[in-house]
Amino acid sequence: MERITTIELAKAFVDEQLLTLKDQIGDKKVLLALSGGVDSSVVAALLIKAVGQQLICVHVNHGLLRKGEPEQVIEVFRNQMDANLIYVDATDRFLDKLAGVAEPEQKRKIIGNEFIEVFAEEARKLDGIEFLAQGTIWPDILESEKGIKAHHNAGGLPEDLQFKLVEPVKILFKDEVRMVGKALGLPDNMVYRQPFPGPGLGVRCPGAITRDRLEAVREADAILREEFAKNGLEGKVWQYFTVVPDFKSTGIRDGERTFEWPVIIRAINTKDAMSATVERLPYELLEHLTKRITTEVKGVNRVLYDMTPKPSATIEYE
Ligand code: XMP
Repeated sequence: MERITTIELAKAFVDEQLLTLKDQIGDKKVLLALSGGVDSSVVAALLIKAVGQQLICVHVNHGLLRKGEPEQVIEVFRNQMDANLIYVDATDRFLDKLAGVAEPEQKRKIIGNEFIEVFAEEARKLDGIEFLAQGTIWPDILESEKGIKAHHNAGGLPEDLQFKLVEPVKILFKDEVRMVGKALGLPDNMVYRQPFPGPGLGVRCPGAITRDRLEAVREADAILREEFAKNGLEGKVWQYFTVVPDFKSTGIRDGERTFEWPVIIRAINTKDAMSATVERLPYELLEHLTKRITTEVKGVNRVLYDMTPKPSATIEYE
């Protein structure tokens, strides 16, 4: 198949997929876990066009999403696209399970398992679901074939929930999925969203997650994203985020001693995430970010810039 490099080719792909999906699904119901990431959003938009209310989207908020993300999913899909959307705020469930757990792999496992659990509970409440739609893309298939990464598919669902799979973007690369997203009219900040790990802000709140430190990560991240957008860096820098490590240091505010967390800023560029270089951010921007974060984020008295490429560091902290 020709690579999708233009909006016209993306529109042709959409037209062809709509026919295929209508034919495959008929009058049956389809379930989709909608994270708000590019891949699942594009699949949702395609299926809404193809089968409308026969698609049931489930958006699970695990409490580790970025500021404004669940609200945007509801706004775009429920309000603008009239999707059949079930929103589950499972924040307390996840954070209670994670309380006191400091080991990174253990944290990831808890988040992954709980996600399947919540999704399965929602699926069991519904009648007559025949299909499960997934935002599998071509690199996922390649990586699972090579044994690099387990393919995030229905394999994880319990025995009693067996659906036929619908994977309309599985022959596409990421840049092609983005082009299809544009052709479907999804907003730019959804289509050009930077990569965001499944365990979300959980891996950016190293060690045992507490609600107050998680809130500091979320607020600092929102400031960083706002400033990158204002300064023309959105879409230019491959990935950028904040981390709030689990230690405090002495500071001073209004003549009083403080004992608070630092915020670490990370901004990197890469082609394939296997290695990465650090973005040379303008000094003025770093100073401005420091001022805003230490003024606006509760519990923070210091800002640090991570100068480490991959290797020796990984991109994320856990
Ligand atoms: P590392 O930290 O391994 O990250 O250098 C490489 C890229 O992968 C992203 N990442 C994840 N993506 N689920 C994901 O979907 C995950 O569990 C996960 N962990 C890391 C990371 O953000 C970076 O872009």
